[in-house]
Amino acid sequence: QKIVLAYSGGLDTSVILAWLKETYDAEVIAFTADIGQKEELDGLEEKALKTGASKVYIDDLREEFAADFIYPMFQAGAMYEGQYLLGTSIARPLIAKRMVEIARKEGATAIAHGATGKGNDQVRFELGVAALAPDIEVIAPWRNAQFRDQFPGRAEMIAYAQQHGIDVTATAAKSYSMDRNLLHISFESGALEDPWFDATAASNQDMYVLSVSPEEAPDQAEYVELAFEQGDCVSINGERLNPLQVMEALNELGGKHGIGRIDMVENRFVGMKSRGVYETPGGTVLFHAHRVMESLTMDREVMNLRDSLITRYSTLVYNGFWFAPERLCLQALVTESQKNVTGTVRVKLYKGNIMTAGVKSPVSLYNPDIATMEADPSQAYNQDDATGFIQLNALRLKVSAGVQGK
Ligand code: ARG
Ligand code: SIN
Repeated sequence: QKIVLAYSGGLDTSVILAWLKETYDAEVIAFTADIGQKEELDGLEEKALKTGASKVYIDDLREEFAADFIYPMFQAGAMYEGQYLLGTSIARPLIAKRMVEIARKEGATAIAHGATGKGNDQVRFELGVAALAPDIEVIAPWRNAQFRDQFPGRAEMIAYAQQHGIDVTATAAKSYSMDRNLLHISFESGALEDPWFDATAASNQDMYVLSVSPEEAPDQAEYVELAFEQGDCVSINGERLNPLQVMEALNELGGKHGIGRIDMVENRFVGMKSRGVYETPGGTVLFHAHRVMESLTMDREVMNLRDSLITRYSTLVYNGFWFAPERLCLQALVTESQKNVTGTVRVKLYKGNIMTAGVKSPVSLYNPDIATMEADPSQAYNQDDATGFIQLNALRLKVSAGVQGK
């Protein structure tokens, strides 16, 4: 049997690699998606082989991640529970997709992952695989009673790793569960499990990776211009960039100014609440600028309709239904809604804030001649029309008020 394992090189997936090999007497193919996690990738191939992988894939999926996952999601204005920009959620379906491709190529019949049995990630991986390759078996060691008996705590994992020649020095000291990619980094567990624990405190600043705190950010504000074409950001400060380059540039800019830190208690799909801290510097700037671009260029009813679907869309992404038919349906509507979202937004970044500092578009729907408080040179709007408009809208309110009085 061949098993494709989603491998990060951390303690958990290293132990899982060795355990799968032993328990299933299988060939384990280690797969790591490069989705922008940076230094976590150093020395990974060597480590996987040393741990017993028969083959290692480290695939650079950053461009695909940005263009085919992050960008379509940002067109939707997706945000979970009013705060979370879905940085981990949107990466999982891509990892699932690539795992399936590798399984097909290598003739593997199963895939395995190291997600705990208590979270969202297991659901996202497995719904992704189910949608793309229903015949492939999924092995989730953390849901295997034998595995949990064998590893009741970190000490047992470290001991097992040492017996199997796995280097644990880098991983054993980590105090938070982190997940990093091009869009964000998340922190969960450890000290954060207490929701009263103040993650903004000066004494806790060494946790952060992508951003400085607003207090530490430059005293000088910085202007940034984002140009959009049909809802997608295509250039920064006049320089044409692909989606990956846009995300990298915005992460740099946003991080420098302390933008995009979120601390929340969220509802996991599996029923529990969980506390997470996120850094999403570039995504936060992009999200803001995109909304400003829409404000100038999007038809009112189109916006209304799209906005009414944001919660649905965001929940689908959070819950792992990226490849489900209803997400594809919604995406078609969302993408259609972006046809006129073209132009340039100027923002000013300053100590954790994003201020709108101008917006323009060749296809702007904003007409100052119509909106002006001065005489309207275009004659498009006749003030007298408002009288009848209000009267007809008032009719049912008057009827209802009359009945109430009785
Ligand atoms: N709570 C976030 C989510 O569900 C982040 C999960 C982080 N995952 C991880 N394996 N550290 O999307
Ligand atoms: C995990 O359970 O593996 C991480 C957290 C989550 O998936 O929600």
